[in-house]
Amino acid sequence: MTNMPTIRITAAAAPDKGTLVVLCDGDNNLSKSAQALDASGQISRAIKAAAFKGGFGKVLDLVAPAESALDRIILVGLGDVSTLGEYHWLRLGGKVRSALIGVAKAAVMLDMPLVDGEKPASFGARDAAGVAQGMQLASYRFDRYKTKKKDKAKTLNVAVHTKAASAAKKAWADQEAVGDGVMFARDLVNEPANVLTPKEFAKRASALKKLGCVVDVLNEKEMKALKMDALLGVARGSRNPPRMAIIRWKGGPAKQKPVAFVGKGVTFDTGGISLKPAGGMEDMKGDMGGAAAVAGLMHALAARKAKVNATGIIAMVENMPDGDAQRPGDIVKSMSGQTIEVLNTDAEGRLVLADALWHCNKKFKPQFMINLATLTGAILVALGNQHAGLFSNDDELSEQLAKAGQDTNEKVWRMPLTAEYDKMIDSKNADMKNIGGRHAGSITAGQFLQRFVGETPWAHLDVAGTAMGSPQNEINKSWASGYGVRLLDRLVADCYES
Ligand code: BES
Ligand code: MN
Ligand code: ZN
Repeated sequence: MTNMPTIRITAAAAPDKGTLVVLCDGDNNLSKSAQALDASGQISRAIKAAAFKGGFGKVLDLVAPAESALDRIILVGLGDVSTLGEYHWLRLGGKVRSALIGVAKAAVMLDMPLVDGEKPASFGARDAAGVAQGMQLASYRFDRYKTKKKDKAKTLNVAVHTKAASAAKKAWADQEAVGDGVMFARDLVNEPANVLTPKEFAKRASALKKLGCVVDVLNEKEMKALKMDALLGVARGSRNPPRMAIIRWKGGPAKQKPVAFVGKGVTFDTGGISLKPAGGMEDMKGDMGGAAAVAGLMHALAARKAKVNATGIIAMVENMPDGDAQRPGDIVKSMSGQTIEVLNTDAEGRLVLADALWHCNKKFKPQFMINLATLTGAILVALGNQHAGLFSNDDELSEQLAKAGQDTNEKVWRMPLTAEYDKMIDSKNADMKNIGGRHAGSITAGQFLQRFVGETPWAHLDVAGTAMGSPQNEINKSWASGYGVRLLDRLVADCYES
């Protein structure tokens, strides 16, 4: 990640030099800042000449009129202002960022278009912070391994001008912390598996100590002592030993039970002895997207000093075929004491999470547990890239997640869990088997996890379709999206902070 812009919020008047971004609406009504630049009618003339219409995110890039000392004026459309919601502000920031590629210094004037000279609606503090966060997220590129950078782009220095500057500055301090968490997650997911081994992942998670987190890393021996044999069975085939990192942020009252997040951290998934086909296997470097989201979330909570106690557990293993790898038909005993017949070594994520969830619940007695996992290809069949699959034993938690999903546009869609589906993973030879047959693959995976959470309110997010390879948009230009960080940060902020 290079060339991240510096973004600051200010109440200052518009600068009279450099590049200025100003707004208009879908009927080309100009904001006050834009009108101030149009004294000679040059902007209106350019709008006409270009047959420009200020639909949402549309850009008209202009050389400043001769009488002005400015270089460039970039007019950006808001479309129908009455339809704008909070995610539009992030998208707008993304659009503005793209329009500023190659620019070293710019000012963005956030004031609403004036309609018929009437007093315009004003920008809220959170809206302005959203624009800033959109610019931040749209700036992210994974280019660490490019030795010849194509454009030696200048680092952008941008000021967001808004009336509600002091409140907006505060909101931006929080949102910037969350954006940093998203980018931390993206970096982890984009990193290749020869670099991001379980050990290296644990090391990067340990860096959260700098933000005030307590981080404990369990090695193979310690996990063995805890009887995590479901997890360890997956790790057997790899030369890279497993790790479990437990990240704690204590921002709430001392006696408050923590909220807990658990992530699947398979640093590479070959399928093991049930080997995957070669085509597209490289994507399995992203099979730790759930763990990356948990690490990114813990970064966000700590960096914005959230008033909550939160525990993040990330379980890292590499699933490889080897002379010592586990075989189809092997039976392992999970930490819970329940036995599992491993009929397919490629259904490894649930084996890892079985022990991580059990340990989380026993050791930390959390208010709730949410796990994130790139768990099944079947969730892509069901929901594509637009929603994560939500599986839960708790209606209230599910509704809170759905609301946070709408607000952040990191959407979830609830799927069923029932006793009938649960039966599909009963085994002839052990307490359960790790696959349920051809049908309802994402649901039987969810049923499997549910056997390890007891009565604790719990939700499982299957992020196989959303964490990576999802369509690029205004705020994500990278293969890894960082999905889950903004969603869960919002859940905590809205429902669990004291
Ligand atoms: N990591 C995969 C799931 C996956 C697939 C993630 C595509 C992202 C994109 C998981 O470990 C897996 O292999 N699941 C199997 C389960 C099956 C063997 C029951 C799958 O989905 O095919
Ligand atoms: Mn697998
Ligand atoms: Zn996997």
